[in-house]
Amino acid sequence: MDPRAVGVGLRAPHFAEICERRPALAFLEAHSENFFGDGGTALAWLERIRSLYPLSLHGVGLSLGSCDPLDASHLQRLRRLAARFEPAFVSEHLAWSSAGGVHANDLLPLPLSEEALDHVARRIVQVQEALGRELLVENISSYVRLGPSAMPEWEFVQEVLRRSGCRLLLDVNNVWVNSVNHGFDPHDYIAAIDPTRVAQVHLAGFERTPEALIDTHGAPVSEEVWALYARTLARMGARPTIIEWDAGIPALDVLLGEAERARSMAP
Ligand SMILES: [Fe+2]
Repeated sequence: MDPRAVGVGLRAPHFAEICERRPALAFLEAHSENFFGDGGTALAWLERIRSLYPLSLHGVGLSLGSCDPLDASHLQRLRRLAARFEPAFVSEHLAWSSAGGVHANDLLPLPLSEEALDHVARRIVQVQEALGRELLVENISSYVRLGPSAMPEWEFVQEVLRRSGCRLLLDVNNVWVNSVNHGFDPHDYIAAIDPTRVAQVHLAGFERTPEALIDTHGAPVSEEVWALYARTLARMGARPTIIEWDAGIPALDVLLGEAERARSMAP
């Protein structure tokens, strides 16, 4: 994919309008689990949209870092979806969301420990083998650290990439949110990531509360995040970028405006 490609998250309220207007977007990103069914209207829409645009598939339900066994049926459905839609990227989160078979409706942070690092890197290798293709992993936003940290988050992420052989979906908003919530310099994070391991970028909006920045995906990209995106591009060069918006989904034109701003910044 062209490194200057910019797209938006594909959300149901925009399906029909995207097909009618065919806005000038380089690709669209679909949430994998929304299309795991055997039929129905969602899949029919995705078929139609796929005939117009390249896709990426972004998962939230694999519980990559969990100690539960990997869900074979989830992997099989993801593999089947990828075979059908031939996405440019398949991605998941560097997180866990289940324990003892109980699923949390959230992406929870991994402890920044050697043990967790080894565990999640081995799981990524297993997932890539099961899918028969590369999996991109995304750095998540978080509000707490689980246990004592043996290393900074950026070192953990970089080492996961090195050990597993996968590449990163770098969420620049999540770097910014975590830098405020955990008190670090976001430029240290960006500087520590090997640019050759960054396949894709996410941008999204957060909500400011007295206690923390909350990664709601329900607001425009903040000026601080645009500035960090500019620094990221200066260091790494252009990368395929998706604007994410999941809560209080606005008119398509709002997303297209954000995408245009990202496109105008590509070096
Ligand atoms: Fe993201």
